[in-house]
Amino acid sequence: MVRNLVGLGDMALKWWDELYSRCCDIIAHPGDYSESCRGKVLAALFYEPSTRTNFSFQSAMLRLGGSVFGFSDPMGTSVAKGETLADTIRIAAAYSDTIVMRSPQEGAAAAAAMYSEVPIVNAGDGSHFHPTQTLADLTTIAQKRGAVENIRVGICGDLKHGRTVHSLVEALSIFSGISYSLISPEALSMPEYILRAMRACGQEYTEMRNLRDAIPGLDILYMTRVQRERFVSATEYERLKNAYILTKDALSSARSDMLIMHPLPRYSEIAPDVDDDPRAVYFEQARFGMFIRMALLYEFANLPRRMQPLPEATAGFMCCNPACVTQSEQYLPQLCAESAAGSKVKRCTYCDAESSIADGVWRIES
Ligand code: NCD
Repeated sequence: MVRNLVGLGDMALKWWDELYSRCCDIIAHPGDYSESCRGKVLAALFYEPSTRTNFSFQSAMLRLGGSVFGFSDPMGTSVAKGETLADTIRIAAAYSDTIVMRSPQEGAAAAAAMYSEVPIVNAGDGSHFHPTQTLADLTTIAQKRGAVENIRVGICGDLKHGRTVHSLVEALSIFSGISYSLISPEALSMPEYILRAMRACGQEYTEMRNLRDAIPGLDILYMTRVQRERFVSATEYERLKNAYILTKDALSSARSDMLIMHPLPRYSEIAPDVDDDPRAVYFEQARFGMFIRMALLYEFANLPRRMQPLPEATAGFMCCNPACVTQSEQYLPQLCAESAAGSKVKRCTYCDAESSIADGVWRIES
């Protein structure tokens, strides 16, 4: 049984089919669900800014008859006094039936799941994953095309830092006939661990630099924002922030039924005059996100409370990713698995970063 939604790497088609059919039923008969979470409470813990994800989860819980508490700035809580993530989670779990959390730290939701007796939903962990955005994306594709299969998907923008695209690619691996045009500047290309996973499950992709060259032949164009908050160098961000701008003119070579998607917020990557194009579905995508989150909360908020024993640390391993949650929450047991890149390379269980050891020192793989 699925208890937490941290990533979508092991999403089963059967789970998705059931969740999506619940979502369709909610869309068709919202009144039937208005009491289905009566007495249930959602904790919405947002350590990073959010509009759609936070508001749509809150709206989803209220529409199911439940209630919500939480924060959108941790500095108004004991986090400002140095409280750990584990303790904040234990307390929020004591007062709620499901926790939705967003954090700048990669692997934070996986860490939280170890300390929570209620389900944890990852609403974005740094540049890593954002699984419920992907559920919104899959819902949009299914609603607009009838099915999620046999599609060429163009993903454009910041593929390095964009957590929504990492989750999208992870989830699409269970559907048949998916191929990709990955459009980004070289400095913002898809991380190697994602590309390796794509190759391992036979997903065909082409890396491209030019958006106009990619557009003909696409069934879906998924635009993304260059993620300013993940850049170390402001100059590098300035150089790349306008790398791609989708204009009405550029769409003249697109298929008449191509979907233009975006997780939002946008910066400059979609010109406002594209909004009127019938192929632009990004505002509807945000609304579908609320319905699929209703389906998820309907399932999670009604699960029995349960605490798992803490896993044992993997002796001798140390994750080297500076954005990993284990760097700031140092009490967390270090955990890893063997990487597909080779037996000397270890993959952090929280953030998926790959590290290897040489002369007794762990180093991150490029
Ligand atoms: C995305 C996010 O937070 O990762 N937004 C969202 O949740 N819809 C995309 C982004 O911030 O660019």
